[in-house]
Amino acid sequence: MQTKAKYRKDYRSPDFTVTDIFLDFQLDPEKTVVTAKSQYQRLNPEATSLRLDGHSFQFAAIHLNGEDFKHYQQDSESLTLDLSSLKESAAQFELEIVTYLKPAENTSLQGLYQSGDALCTQCEAEGFRQITYMLDRPDVLARYTTKITAEKAKYPYLLSNGNRIASGELDNGFHWVEWQDPFPKPSYLFALVAGDFDVLQDSFITQSGREVKLELYVDRGNLDRADWAMQSLKKSMKWDEERFGLEYDLDIYMIVAVDFFNMGAMENKGLNIFNDKFVLANPQTATDEDYLAIESVIAHEYFHNWTGNRVTCRDWFQLSLKEGLTVFRDQEFSSDTGSRAVNRINNVKFLRTVQFAEDASPMSHPIRPEKVIEMNNFYTVTVYEKGAEVIRMLHTLLGEQGFQAGMREYIAQNDGKAATCEDFVQAMEKANDVDLSQFRRWYSQSGTPELTINDSYDERSHTYRLQVSQHTPATADQMDKVNLHIPLKIALYDEQGIMQSLQYHGELVSDVLDVTEQTQTFEFHNIYSRPVPALLCDFSAPVRLDYDYSTKQLITLLKFAKNDFVRWDAVQMLFSNELRRNLSQYQQGQPLEFSQEILTALHQVLENHQKDPELTTLILTLPKETEFAELFKTIDPEGIAVVRDFMLRTLADYLKSDLFRIYQQIHLEDYRVVQQDIALRALRNLCLNYLAYTHLGNNLVYKHYVNANNMTDCLAALSVATKAQLPCRDELLADFEQKWQHDGLVMDKWFTLQATRPDADVLQIVVQLMDHPSFNFNNPNRVRALVGSFASQNPRAFHAADGSGYRFLTDILIRLNETNPQVASRLIEPLIRFKRYDAQRQTLMKRALERLSEVENLSKDLFEKIEKALQ
Ligand code: ALA
Ligand code: ZN
Repeated sequence: MQTKAKYRKDYRSPDFTVTDIFLDFQLDPEKTVVTAKSQYQRLNPEATSLRLDGHSFQFAAIHLNGEDFKHYQQDSESLTLDLSSLKESAAQFELEIVTYLKPAENTSLQGLYQSGDALCTQCEAEGFRQITYMLDRPDVLARYTTKITAEKAKYPYLLSNGNRIASGELDNGFHWVEWQDPFPKPSYLFALVAGDFDVLQDSFITQSGREVKLELYVDRGNLDRADWAMQSLKKSMKWDEERFGLEYDLDIYMIVAVDFFNMGAMENKGLNIFNDKFVLANPQTATDEDYLAIESVIAHEYFHNWTGNRVTCRDWFQLSLKEGLTVFRDQEFSSDTGSRAVNRINNVKFLRTVQFAEDASPMSHPIRPEKVIEMNNFYTVTVYEKGAEVIRMLHTLLGEQGFQAGMREYIAQNDGKAATCEDFVQAMEKANDVDLSQFRRWYSQSGTPELTINDSYDERSHTYRLQVSQHTPATADQMDKVNLHIPLKIALYDEQGIMQSLQYHGELVSDVLDVTEQTQTFEFHNIYSRPVPALLCDFSAPVRLDYDYSTKQLITLLKFAKNDFVRWDAVQMLFSNELRRNLSQYQQGQPLEFSQEILTALHQVLENHQKDPELTTLILTLPKETEFAELFKTIDPEGIAVVRDFMLRTLADYLKSDLFRIYQQIHLEDYRVVQQDIALRALRNLCLNYLAYTHLGNNLVYKHYVNANNMTDCLAALSVATKAQLPCRDELLADFEQKWQHDGLVMDKWFTLQATRPDADVLQIVVQLMDHPSFNFNNPNRVRALVGSFASQNPRAFHAADGSGYRFLTDILIRLNETNPQVASRLIEPLIRFKRYDAQRQTLMKRALERLSEVENLSKDLFEKIEKALQ
């Protein structure tokens, strides 16, 4: 294994390219034969050596222009051909390569592998090289023709990219299908699926009147869980036409849901392959949250057809070009078709918790990384979600019209090509005639900028000033930081809660301030009393805000702000202040106390729940322990858990009569996935969540579970029974297990609850559950549900002072290093972040990492992270 880093600055365009490739698959789980016949073109006339990527298969034969070829060198990762004998004028030649694969033994779930009884592929980022030798880089775009031959009884469906052009039967019980994709594409977008499925068929008429066949493939017996995904697909296709003017381009669009999958889903041209978690849903098996997640992932993969496939990435350092942009697009889709404020709040919550934590970790990197050892390690919240924030800032600065003009320019210039982030920014500049030189720094600078804001009010001149300073602390990957262009959206309220117009010398000015310097002062005139500022409205930039709000100011914003995000954010700050203050009390052995002012204000929010039940729910949801953890440089997992628990019980006790009344008032008969019902269910379950901690808890939760006619309610009850350790817990957990043990996907919810239970012996429970009949160590969803949840969602248990959590995770990682390094590398994250903990825990965590680093055959994935952590 090579652990050499690649650098963005070293990019060179390829000496050779592939224009056409004909792939022949003779499928068999034990021995698949792949013959790849490729038309190569020499782009650099001087080049005589051709290095092809490939590993993890048996190399059987190579022919050059139809003749046996011997002038090559092979190592564990590549095949290098000496082409000096090729006539100088021969700019084109054909290579035919034969390889043997064992998909049934491929637990890495990259390349060709077996999922249940089906065979399928995952090639992004560098999985194609596990199928055959190839120029496996995204700037080599070829036309693919794929012929698949397999046993008909086992594999009635044989799928690949593009259009089906031929098929036939063989007399030995085998059959074959040939597919052709007319759009040149990089190897990472290649896909193949073979298996027996139930198929949901539909169609979509595009805005120009073409009919597109839609096919959704699910495991047999799951057809009653496919409708929602199909509806979501059609909704996405329509939305992309309306909002972005982008239309689908092939005659068929297929989605296959598989059980074994490393990522969420994959946008292979014309043949998306999905983790079944993001396809399968019916009211009995999926929660409201699952439904919304499915809709957004279906949309995301569909949107990739233009932002990712038609315009792809030049090299993997540019990953955010397609991912940041496509996340932005799927967020906009969800906001246009659902509640914009709710979507914004959920996205910001996630970014602030997970992405900010990544910035503070040994893996910090800019949205366009500079250095990579294993590309799979860079499918991160930074590249995806912070990447989307950078696109959103451009949208904020340019407006919808300007942004769409930039999009049209970007696509016009780059359609059919492999592009860079720089190409995207240039298109935005050109279409809007603006200079984005400083803005570009968001692509190269890592870390979370901090905005420190001070204000002053001059009552004689009726002038209000905001002094804004920016500072980005050094990160693990980058010591020196520069000033960024930060759009800071604000609003000013007077003490009666009336919004003030923003004026400068009598002129109205924009509510988005351009922060570009280290320190800047913004002045507003005709302000007749000291205002309460709403700062960083809608989270207009991915930064931390430091402004010394008083409780009174925050309550004013909560009560009066026009912007729902601002109201929610004000409460986040109130909760944070309460947690901070009480944690320090707890650490000094002092009594805890919840501010009466805040309790009163929250009570009022609850009383007004009818205005907006969904926002009420979000406002009254106490941040999770992991969210609170991000307030601190050094995290006290025990203390945070204790204080949060205190806050939860205090709120429950204070609000209980209203919570109970509202709980009783809300009635929903039939289950429908519509925003209004989702909102009411969420509010009712919020009430249940608090009431569980009162004397009513056990009875209410038990009945809630028994009467539930859908998974949202069922899981709400089960979850709080577990978290509040109610007497009914064991009975309900057993009931759920008995009902769903045949269904791994549903059991993941149960595994997650088990892994996050507050019980002192939770680790023992988790260890025992690894032998549960529904658990499968080779299935990433199962491993993430049980082991991943324990390590990242149960901080108190994972960080147990005796180091037992660390030892357990290390044992698991040693096994996963052999079977599935990509999943291992996701799970190791909590362990490499030892700098955020006290000295004792640091020592134990480092010891665990050292033990891992000595493992034989340590994968690149883990090597890269451990090395960075121990540096
Ligand atoms: N390219 C895949 C996605 O993010 C992993 O959609
Ligand atoms: Zn994506």
